[in-house]
Amino acid sequence: MNNNTVNLPHLCQQVQNLVLQVAQFIREQAGQVRQQDIETKQRNHLVSYVDKTSEKMLIEGLQPLLPNAGFVAEEGTVAQTHNDWQWVIDPLDGTTNFLYQIPSYAISVGLMYKNKVVLGVVCEINRNELFYAWQGGGAYLNGSPIKVNPNSRFDTAFFGTGFPYYDYAVIEPYLQVLKHLMLHTNGARRLGAAAVDLCYVACGRFDGFFEHSLSIWDVAAGSLIITEAGGQVTDFNGQDNYLSGRQIVAASPSIWGEFFGLVNRHLGV
Ligand code: IPD
Ligand code: CA
Ligand code: CA
Repeated sequence: MNNNTVNLPHLCQQVQNLVLQVAQFIREQAGQVRQQDIETKQRNHLVSYVDKTSEKMLIEGLQPLLPNAGFVAEEGTVAQTHNDWQWVIDPLDGTTNFLYQIPSYAISVGLMYKNKVVLGVVCEINRNELFYAWQGGGAYLNGSPIKVNPNSRFDTAFFGTGFPYYDYAVIEPYLQVLKHLMLHTNGARRLGAAAVDLCYVACGRFDGFFEHSLSIWDVAAGSLIITEAGGQVTDFNGQDNYLSGRQIVAASPSIWGEFFGLVNRHLGV
């Protein structure tokens, strides 16, 4: 099977249907998780049966859609394989928000073909917002096309970010970037779900986003949704290594130069 024999718009619709079913499961579990159901993967990194069950439901539903595809899934409920086609799954992005009953959390499913993302679906569960895109097909929110903010100005721009939570060596340069945003723009928010942050850039709610230490399942779907919405995405050095490189900066082209320059100056090599 090659990229031309897969009907991406149809597949995207099937993935959306599945993601909506799993979102309903997560919604029903909100507020139900007991303290003893929560494990600490590492400092600042929690998980419960909700993440794992969501992942299993997604894998079970995705497998028949593209039988040759492998999986890269955050909670490791399936063996990781290296196929031309790979599903990349974050079964619950924003687990800490979910467990503390803070509203921003999502499911993120990307599909890669030969190391390029060709399809992405992100569902922000509490707002019933389904963001999606396929390669060359544009980006959508609940059926309507979306675009990055075409008229961003850096001095009135608004940003999303996430705090470094294990690579503490980047805290100082990261704070320098934040300080600049605090002093010279309309500010920044840390929502707590990177897939949601990326989709907010895609639909123009945020003008830009940057974060260090994210994994491929956090960014695969959202990065395609941004590029299909007309945005730019790179690593901190302006290269393409943002899926596995643990560095991502994304923005509307109208502020790209100034925003990327700031991130690169403090966090690039
Ligand atoms: C986390 C969220 C958060 C980001 C973390 C991620 P998880 O994902 O996306 O916003 O700052 O780095 O790990 O663990 O809730 O799936
Ligand atoms: Ca995540
Ligand atoms: Ca997760």
